[in-house]
Amino acid sequence: MLALSGSSYASPETIVPGVLWYDTSSNVLSSHGGGILKEGNTYYWFGEYMDSDPNNVLPVYEGHVTHQFVANTCYSSIDFVHWTFENNVLTQQASGDLGPGRVVERPKVIYNDLTGQYVMYMHIDSSMYDDNRVGVATCPTVNGNYTYLGGFWPLGNRSGDMTLFKDDDGKGYLLSNNGLSGINIYELTDDYLDVNSLATLVRKPGAEAPAMFKAGGTYYLLCSDSSWWTPNDNFYFTATSITGRWSTSKDFTPDSTNTWASQTTYVQPIQGSVSTTYVFMADRWNEWDFGNSMYIFLPLIVDGTTLTVDWYDEWTLDAETGEWAPVECTASTIHVESIVCSTVPIPRSQGMSYGEVTVTIYDDCGDRVVGAEVTGTFTGDFNETLTETTDDSGVVVLTTTTGFKQPSYTFCVDNVSHATLSYDPNDNTETCESY
Ligand code: DGJ
Repeated sequence: MLALSGSSYASPETIVPGVLWYDTSSNVLSSHGGGILKEGNTYYWFGEYMDSDPNNVLPVYEGHVTHQFVANTCYSSIDFVHWTFENNVLTQQASGDLGPGRVVERPKVIYNDLTGQYVMYMHIDSSMYDDNRVGVATCPTVNGNYTYLGGFWPLGNRSGDMTLFKDDDGKGYLLSNNGLSGINIYELTDDYLDVNSLATLVRKPGAEAPAMFKAGGTYYLLCSDSSWWTPNDNFYFTATSITGRWSTSKDFTPDSTNTWASQTTYVQPIQGSVSTTYVFMADRWNEWDFGNSMYIFLPLIVDGTTLTVDWYDEWTLDAETGEWAPVECTASTIHVESIVCSTVPIPRSQGMSYGEVTVTIYDDCGDRVVGAEVTGTFTGDFNETLTETTDDSGVVVLTTTTGFKQPSYTFCVDNVSHATLSYDPNDNTETCESY
């Protein structure tokens, strides 16, 4: 995805989850925990700026750390693939909610038709996460400098991870973790600057990272469990009305994949001339190097009221037609993925052993290669060059024909050949291994 400087993927028109992404100026794209606002045919992506600067790492309790607020960013895109940096729309202030050592997470922006203001909500906290407020900022332009208006506990409730949702009738909703029993859904006032009433509580203690979207007549609410920055199996609820009744929760990724090692952030429908693709947007956090946190964008399949997110290494999205497709990987090279050295005792030989190595061959799509001819040399206590062909698991076992007492040896792969794929030793995880 994006101007893919440094990526091994050839096509810049595709979305590649789980690698560093770059904006159209080739800078690292930093927009985490955020959300999308669509205006005309432009998508604006707001999010948390995160970097690898150790000065921005704040200690929390239980050995955890967090990232100090530096800025909320805004990027724009027509195709949802190439993103242009617009502005740091809200930046650190000298003191107060947005001052040094503060935490600002999961910013979302919706446009208010009555006031003509863009309204940003975000989770405002101390570095210890004991403040739990929602903060509000506004701007007359989508990508301008937002003015921070302040923070509050909605209807007196604590407010952690949050999101915004603007319904088709223009009503705005704030969804936030109430720190106790689940996700509170509040109806916003007409100007979106405050909450009006509690629409409902979606009961699920610990539910975090709420993301809501509507498809057909159904509302979908995706959430994670709470496990700091470590991913868990996320889940979703459905309802035909925001006030409920909401269904019980179900997972949308296979068990124990921990949501493809990510945490839900947002779901954006890409409505095109042919169909609508729902893009599941998530963060793969890196608590020990926040600047190396990755984005996981994947197509979210809506089937009846069932949601599924499968993994694709690379996929294409056509924002004009609203269609998506997986990119099939075509292998062209092979390499040594692993070498494991061992010895095999020779029966009734007074402690002599053969040297034995297991070599595994992979292709550049990450698959095991059958029928690759591997030639390697044992040196040290042995002096033998052997050749074998990989089996159905992409593995060869090479065993010396001579023995040695408690042998010590080095094995190096000299060459790998295959009928259609060429050997690229630069891709080898290792070429030699000693025993
Ligand atoms: C999980 C939340 O979803 C994140 O936004 C952040 O608050 C981390 N916890 C902090 O550990």
